[in-house]
Amino acid sequence: MAELTFYLIFVSFAVVLGSLQFGYHIGELNTPKSAISCENIPSDGPYDGFLSPCIPMNEGEFSLLTSIFNLGGLVGALISPRVADNKGRRWTLMFNTIFLLLGPTTMGFSSSFTTLVFGRVISGIGSGVVSVVVPMYLAEVSPAEYRGTFGVMNQLGIVIGILFSQVQGLYLSYIPGWRIIILFASALSIVQMVFLGFATESPKYLVTTPGGYQSAKRALQRLRGRIDVEEELGGWRQVTSEEGLEGLISQQQEEDTLNSQQQSELSPQNVPEVDTVESPPVVFLARNTCSDDFSIWKFVTNLHYRPALKVLLFVQFTQQFSGINAVIFYSTTILSTILPTSSDLITVYISIMNMIMTIISAYLMDRAGRRTLLLYSISLMSLCSILLAFSITHELALLSSISIIGFVATFAIGLGPIPFLIIPEIVDTRAVATASSLGLSVNWISNFLVASLFLEGRVMLGGNVFYIFAAYLIIAYIIAIRILPETKAKTVEEVWRGWNGKFVK
Ligand code: GLC
Repeated sequence: MAELTFYLIFVSFAVVLGSLQFGYHIGELNTPKSAISCENIPSDGPYDGFLSPCIPMNEGEFSLLTSIFNLGGLVGALISPRVADNKGRRWTLMFNTIFLLLGPTTMGFSSSFTTLVFGRVISGIGSGVVSVVVPMYLAEVSPAEYRGTFGVMNQLGIVIGILFSQVQGLYLSYIPGWRIIILFASALSIVQMVFLGFATESPKYLVTTPGGYQSAKRALQRLRGRIDVEEELGGWRQVTSEEGLEGLISQQQEEDTLNSQQQSELSPQNVPEVDTVESPPVVFLARNTCSDDFSIWKFVTNLHYRPALKVLLFVQFTQQFSGINAVIFYSTTILSTILPTSSDLITVYISIMNMIMTIISAYLMDRAGRRTLLLYSISLMSLCSILLAFSITHELALLSSISIIGFVATFAIGLGPIPFLIIPEIVDTRAVATASSLGLSVNWISNFLVASLFLEGRVMLGGNVFYIFAAYLIIAYIIAIRILPETKAKTVEEVWRGWNGKFVK
């Protein structure tokens, strides 16, 4: 427990406020749909506010407004790694609060469909950046033995955000209350901006910057609340035989040693720190070589990354093709024919269960392990999916409620958090930003496909549509047994040894 300092918890909270906003945007349009789009309310009705009471939209326009968020997310996921590698994780998240502020503020003060869509895209970009950078930051600041628990915090932030927006939706889905629901996210972004002002840059990132060894050390000392962090810094050692890299590495070592010598001359009281620096400097990768060299193309074509690439694509695709967002976005519609009066309430129960099980998964993550939880999650989800399809088609109200809640609960235990937290566990720091970007792009595209095809599928197949998700989950289980590594408390190097017998490329 000694490693869990107040400051570490504080910085994690500051970044997870981003995940909370991401989740909030996922859920914000569901319940106030009628109020926003002037359903049942004439748009020129009695209302004396300076903004229009609502914005007339048909079903098609409303679903465009909902799903365009994923397009923004894709853009955010694609642009963020370069920025995160060049400017730093904290800087990127700090800058990103501008998107997270601008998006909902534009929507909240919008009087036309166009500005509403524009704001939603900007919120999507902000959420896309969050989806890549927050898991990366959490993995980089957390002590190895708590990495799983910290990784789950991202997903916990998302599900609490979804729940927040749904509960607000229950009370504020009227004119002009829907604007308050949307503008609440603007307030969250300002709070995050202030909190991030007190957060440190990721030491793992700092150490990859030229001459960044000392600042990395200072950041790690703050996070761990102790002076002797050399061993942990040493554990991040990364080795590569890529041509030309050795030169850059030794150049960086020289620079770091020089910096520390200069420091000791200027401030003699720092002698103990210089002593520790004089111990053999760790071999770190020079960041400049990473971001420029590590295009998605290089990551995909480099054979050494192939096992990691397979796992990465598999978990991201499976997270979305499990059908989770069919339930998160459309649970009320799915249940409305069987349970016309209680479907709204069950939607809130679903979100509460999502949150409770995510908390339980945070506890289990570093005990049971990622592979075990994912295998349970995938198999139990397929079972719930079969039960859901059966109960909907046979109009069994109780069984359909239980199975839809079970579907989300078993998602939350594994397929929810693990795809995000596993990326930095299977890909080295040099390629992690690129890998996250690729993985999250697959996630956003798959999310978009499921969200836009599900309603059509439901019209054609009714409840049977859940048999399709069940079939995919059974196939996914077979693939998962074959390709998933256990990453619990292992370094990337150790995980790679399991695959290749070696880490050095
Ligand atoms: C994950 C998914 C997201 C989904 C959420 C539900 O965060 O990425 O698409 O809505 O889980 O809990």
